[in-house]
Formats: sequence, structure tokens, C-alpha cells
Amino acid sequence: MTAQVTDRVKTAQRLLASSAKNSYDPLLDIDWDAPLAPDGADGLVYLPPERVSLYGTPLWDELTPEQRIELSKNELASIASTGLWTEIILMQMLVRDAYHRDPRDPGTQYALTEVGDETRHVIMFAKALERMGCPDYHPPRFIHHLARLYKATARGPAMYAPVLVTEEVTDRLQRATMNDETIHPLIRMVNRIHVVEEARHVRYARGELSRMLPQLSRPRRAWHNLVGAIAAASLVRVLIDPKVYASVGLDPKQAQRVARANPHHRETVRWMGEKIMAFLDEQGMVTRTTRPIYRAVHLL
Ligand SMILES: [Fe+2]
Ligand SMILES: [Fe+2]
Repeated sequence: MTAQVTDRVKTAQRLLASSAKNSYDPLLDIDWDAPLAPDGADGLVYLPPERVSLYGTPLWDELTPEQRIELSKNELASIASTGLWTEIILMQMLVRDAYHRDPRDPGTQYALTEVGDETRHVIMFAKALERMGCPDYHPPRFIHHLARLYKATARGPAMYAPVLVTEEVTDRLQRATMNDETIHPLIRMVNRIHVVEEARHVRYARGELSRMLPQLSRPRRAWHNLVGAIAAASLVRVLIDPKVYASVGLDPKQAQRVARANPHHRETVRWMGEKIMAFLDEQGMVTRTTRPIYRAVHLL
């Protein structure tokens, strides 16, 4: 066995052992019946105010404290909806990939373990949406159908780069809020569970990405860089559904324009993407062609 193969096998074995020891069952590990104060009466928020897309704008100043909590709840719900949708995409891609692999390979077994984690995450996020009384903010129809083509064909770095972007972007937010006592305890617990299990997913995907990239020819690399950047940017673009603004009586289109131009919001997106963009840059996936794509959604 070459050094790279043994490293890959060792990583997979470590991740399998860690999964066996430290995994959650959100159906049992979360108190779904804990009371949830209506209309933000308990003063607890769902996102830190400075991470809400309108923070710092005149529109934000006009909102009452209750409306600000309501907006934080709906933005979190939008991130959870988009998150669970990407997890379903990821599961399909991992299963499709496993079809071609040796089931005895620890790497295949870890990929399937990850499918198990994501199945539980999707249900956890869906139950949280239900509990918060929020809609499923599913991405727009056009993106929904474009993603069907993507998930049926993407493999290798073009598959792992956008997966890492969505996992790491949400991870940054969840890590920063899982111990914040101004955040609703239900959300804190959801975030904590997700952070623990996603750390393994990130480890696996980063390993696969850096192992696969050097094996590609230059034109193939350029193709993976491009497809990966377009998919990642599209996912970040739909994270906040404009319909969230209607929950506090704002015009969705107008509020979305304000949010997209909001320097605080742009800084939040950049902060969320900071770690993964540094990694993709290190891997040579941020190029003259792809940098403007990442810049357009403020990941850079
Ligand atoms: Fe997940
Ligand atoms: Fe994940």
C-alpha cells in the first residue's frame, strides 16, 4: 500500500471509531417538548442580532424588539431549510459514489456512516422548523431543478468543494452560538449536536478533496474548480430566502436588496466562509476564473 492509501484508510478508521463513540440521536437527545415562548416573550434570540441580515440598516432600526427576534427565528429557519436540502443532496451523492466502491473499504464505510448522520440531521432540522412554527424555506424552483442535474453528475472535487462550503459556513455560525446563553436552548442543542458530527464530515471531505485534486489533469482541474465555485456560490446565495422578511411585515424584494447591500451582512458571510475559503485557496481552487464567483456572493 502506498503512504497515501494507508493515510486515507487510517483517517477513515479513526472517523468510524469516533462516530461509534460520539454520535447523537436527536429524536431522543433533544427535549422537543420544552416550552417555547410565543412572540419572543422570553427575550431569547435564535441568531445573535449582529448576524441577522438587516442588522445595522434603517430597516432594522424600525423593527420592534419582538420583530427582531421573529426575524432572527425566520433567518435561522431559512438556513436550516437550505442546510437540510443540501444534506439530502449530499446523501444522494455519497450513496451514488458508494455504489461503485468496495464496501469493505473503511472509506466506503465512513461515507455510509456519514449518510446515517445526515439522515438524522435532516430530521432534526425539520423538527426544529416545525417546533419554531416556521415554514420550510426551500430554495427557488430554478435552483431546485439545477441541483438535480448537479447531484446526478458531480463527483470528486466538484462535489466536495460546495459540500465543504455549506458545511463549514453553517458550522462557523453554529460553533459561535452553541454556548451563547442569549440563544434559545433548543437551537443551542441542535447546534451542539451538529457541530460534533460535522467536524468528522469536514475532516473526511477535506481529506478526499486534497487527495483527489493532484490526480487531475489541468483541464479537468479547471472544470472542477469552476463547477465547484458555481455550486458553492449558488448555495450561499439562497441561504436567506427573501420570504423571511415577510414574517415581520417587510417587502421581501426590497428587504433583500437592503440586506445584500448591507456591509454588516457581507462581513457576516465573509466571516462564515473564512476558514473554508482559506482551505480552498490553499488547494488551488481559488483561481483567476473562480475568485470573482466567490467574490460575487461575498465569500471573499
Ligand atoms: Fe449535517
Ligand atoms: Fe455533514
